[in-house]
Amino acid sequence: MKISIYPSTISDAFALAQLERRCFPGDRLSLGQYRYFIRRPSAQVLTMMQSDKVIGGAVLLFRRHSAIARLYSIAIDPAFQGHGLGVELLAEVEAYAKGRRATLVRLEVRQDNQVAIQFYKKHGYLAFGEYEHYYEDGAPALRMQKILIK
Ligand SMILES: CC(C)(COP(=O)(O)OP(=O)(O)OC[C@H]1O[C@@H](n2cnc3c(N)ncnc32)[C@H](O)[C@@H]1OP(=O)(O)O)[C@@H](O)C(=O)NCCC(=O)NCCS
Repeated sequence: MKISIYPSTISDAFALAQLERRCFPGDRLSLGQYRYFIRRPSAQVLTMMQSDKVIGGAVLLFRRHSAIARLYSIAIDPAFQGHGLGVELLAEVEAYAKGRRATLVRLEVRQDNQVAIQFYKKHGYLAFGEYEHYYEDGAPALRMQKILIK
């Protein structure tokens, strides 16, 4: 399977928003949000492609004077999940975070999303807190973080 991961361009926004619809039941990033993040210097959006199909994406956010990168979204097309592509994309996310001098990646994940929680734990993320009533439907979020080794 020939896979590529690259910094998203505005022409990927539609496919990324469609992917988001296939991957998340709610709280999805919209087309407008993707367009905004792709243009925004303090965000890094990544597209994962197989042939000419967008099969994964990630959104990483940075703040000036902060060494914390926030993984705002990561998703692999359901038809491609469970084959190690998520970890490939996560590794690329972390490489971009390091490239922007971040020393920590933080994220929020639904507490009922056990697949994602296990995925993050397996790849070095530790839970450090939670947000109650974080999602549209009132579900809580688990906060996780990973220290990036130089
Ligand atoms: C979380 C996610 C990005 C992982 O991507 P992936 O390509 O499936 O990741 P990997 O194949 O590298 O690893 C998935 C792990 O979950 C396990 N798994 C268990 N149930 C699974 C399921 N229904 N689907 C996919 N993987 C599953 C896999 O076996 C694998 O574990 P292993 O490494 O111990 O074998 C992907 O599942 C996804 O996009 N989920 C929907 C969106 C989401 O929840 N994003 C995170 C929100 S914070």
